[in-house]
Amino acid sequence: MELVPARTKLSEIYSNIDPQVARYKNILTKFAHLYGGPKSQRPDIIVRSPGRVNVIGDHIDYSYYSVLPMAIENDVVMAISFDVHPPSRTDSCSDIETMPAKVRIANMDPKFEAQEFTIPNDGSQIEIDAAKSDWVNYFRCGLAVVHDHLPKSKFVDMNVLVDGNVPDGAGLSSSAAFVVCATFAALYAQGETEIDKKTLTKLSTKCEQFVGVNSGGMDQSASIFGEKLNALLVSFVPDLNVTKFTFPETDPKIAFVVANSLVAANKHETGPVNYNLRVVEVTLAANMMAAQLGFKLANDGNLQAGTLRGVMEQYFGDKKKFGEKNLAQSREMLEEMAQLVEKLLPKKDGYTTEEVATMLKCTPEQLKEKYMTTYPVRYEKLQLHDRALHVYQESKRVLDFLAVLENPPKDTKQMFTELGALIDQCHTSAKCLYKNSCPELDELCDIARKNGSYGSRVTGAGFGGCSVHLVPADKTQQLMDALTEQYYKKRFPEITAAKLSDAMIVTEPGSGTCLVKEQLSLD
Ligand code: GLA
Repeated sequence: MELVPARTKLSEIYSNIDPQVARYKNILTKFAHLYGGPKSQRPDIIVRSPGRVNVIGDHIDYSYYSVLPMAIENDVVMAISFDVHPPSRTDSCSDIETMPAKVRIANMDPKFEAQEFTIPNDGSQIEIDAAKSDWVNYFRCGLAVVHDHLPKSKFVDMNVLVDGNVPDGAGLSSSAAFVVCATFAALYAQGETEIDKKTLTKLSTKCEQFVGVNSGGMDQSASIFGEKLNALLVSFVPDLNVTKFTFPETDPKIAFVVANSLVAANKHETGPVNYNLRVVEVTLAANMMAAQLGFKLANDGNLQAGTLRGVMEQYFGDKKKFGEKNLAQSREMLEEMAQLVEKLLPKKDGYTTEEVATMLKCTPEQLKEKYMTTYPVRYEKLQLHDRALHVYQESKRVLDFLAVLENPPKDTKQMFTELGALIDQCHTSAKCLYKNSCPELDELCDIARKNGSYGSRVTGAGFGGCSVHLVPADKTQQLMDALTEQYYKKRFPEITAAKLSDAMIVTEPGSGTCLVKEQLSLD
């Protein structure tokens, strides 16, 4: 069991301390100002959780294939005080037991309005209106998952102040960073002061599903398990497992530049045609393949209706072992699955609802009921061939990438070339098969490749948001200058220096979720 750590020094978390000291002092000052009073001048806890960038392997976590993300330094910080409110003289014992708790929540960013709401303590559900885009929903869902996890949960009053600097809509998991803090706070409020990373990951992964995005487990895993200077290999079966690793020591060093297209990608609002639709398509692809192979899939995956990984496991049975420990064979297995997609899902222009229903021996209404009710979707045709092909090939690219890292070519340039080629292939797949890129991201990647990047791709959910570029450390400035001139200044002539510097970061793997215990004095 690995516990979420407490850090006593900001320098254990951040590389550049001064701005962080100023930031935390601001948070504490505002906290005292908002919730001041003899008891709650200082928060009882401060928890922080970072965003992440995914190096390779997108849109495969919910098909249960492994991914290679790393935490970044940008994060969400939550300062919280807990309070048991005093019962009034007329309250009976049972009234006190079931009295709702009050949450007061505010954000350092004034665009997010401060709110107050109550949490029922009588066993009833914590209501979240997923149809409404409300920042506080991301806090409520932390409470809701803990409420479901601990049937006897009793909430106390909470005063919460949030500060986040992970850009939202950028594909860097601002929402995961937020829900991890919210889930942590909700567990802590139950007296759980020693919080296991895996439990926190599993619970917080469910959070976004409460607000209408049927996402996988990569973001929360990366946020919670992040470790300075280490990238992560996250696998989901047989159980969540996170292995830390470092990139080979090269001269020049490997660096990753993250560049935001500044096209906002709102997973929540575009879910029915983007993210949630992809989850439905890969699940239906799995079921169509299974039907033709005569397999019965387990009720797992995000729709509890099977995964493409499940199809692969049954196809090979126990004869072959799949996994990162068995790279060569696993890569062959994925190659074979990609060929099977061509055979079993040949229609490259997509499938109609009726065609899929016929193959799955149900009516179109039953199909919609089973796969498209919890998360409604809209489509003309279901793109089963392209989505399934992406999943198997992208999963293979992750293993190919690991194989290069395990056995890096002596020649550094050769290593960059091999890793970069895989990253480029990911982008082509995102653009042509999974259709989660956009013209702006394509342009960023093209410019980057001509200016020092060995491999460039959309990262995270996509449909806008960020790109990631593999570059030798001595070329990062050259790359950022080119993107500035040829992308940002051209597309956004009015862009300010501050916005520009936020748009691009050279990222090093950052540390994961922790309690912050540095005692900062407020002058
Ligand atoms: C989002 C989801 C993740 C993952 C990525 C794409 O970030 O939250 O679970 O599916 O998209 O790789």
